[in-house]
Amino acid sequence: MTSFDIRRVGGRTGAEILGVDLSTRLDASLVQEINAALLEHKALFFRDQDLQDSDQIRFASLFGELTTAHPTVPSVEGRPHVLPVDGEEGVRANRWHTDVTFVRTPPKASTLRALVVPPHGGNTLIANTAAAYADLPEPLRELADRLWAVHTNAFDYAEPKNQAAAERRKVFTSRRWQTAHPVVRVHPESGERGLFIGGFAQRLVGLGAEESRDLLRILQAYVTRPENTVRWTWAPGDLILFDNRITQHYAPDDYGDLPRRLHRVTVAGDVPVGVDGERSRLVEGDDAGHYTPAAA
Ligand SMILES: [Fe+2]
Repeated sequence: MTSFDIRRVGGRTGAEILGVDLSTRLDASLVQEINAALLEHKALFFRDQDLQDSDQIRFASLFGELTTAHPTVPSVEGRPHVLPVDGEEGVRANRWHTDVTFVRTPPKASTLRALVVPPHGGNTLIANTAAAYADLPEPLRELADRLWAVHTNAFDYAEPKNQAAAERRKVFTSRRWQTAHPVVRVHPESGERGLFIGGFAQRLVGLGAEESRDLLRILQAYVTRPENTVRWTWAPGDLILFDNRITQHYAPDDYGDLPRRLHRVTVAGDVPVGVDGERSRLVEGDDAGHYTPAAA
């Protein structure tokens, strides 16, 4: 029994939380219940909220210390913890990914809040990477358990479509990181295993470019199976909280020139751990101490 109603949205992923007003102060037992729901469903949806940046920041802070907005991308003016997510061409997140996995301590959880949404399209898809891992046939699972992937923010992105997009890409990659993470990550709270790859995972340790690409594509196909995903149709005021340790997400680029604006606030996370207990290691770059208090 929880102090709110839960309505599952996807068959395996995501649930809507009803009857919680995030603009109010939530007590510790309620936060614990929300966290338990997050561990079970991986992503939680809160509709009809009427929130300011300060409310989103306070809510995210209930789950741990915050990161700053992004390692390279500037925050919303005067709000160092808030990343503007605009539908500007060239930075649309129409690529499956887990947020900021190129640093050694990627965020634990992300909150996204809708300010402006297009009348159609502009949804967010979220995938459950534990369900993906569970779907793997035994021989593939055994292989994945032993693989490590190098994640980086600087790789051969598609050619920018215009000057503004090229400028934004330059900012995004103005400092570069490479981190080796286990392909199978053990969740620090639930102990669940999940595939930890996504868009920033560019090669597999010990394998060449071609084999890396082929194997990553095979594993990634399990993550993006429709069965393992949920699709959220935004309304202004909605807030999503997702567990960045065991999900990937994707924003379809299907809304043309219509405006779309979200604000993102993320909770700092720890160093990922593989099934053998080994921890992620930095290959290039620093500990991103300007970005996350979990560094060092
Ligand atoms: Fe993202």
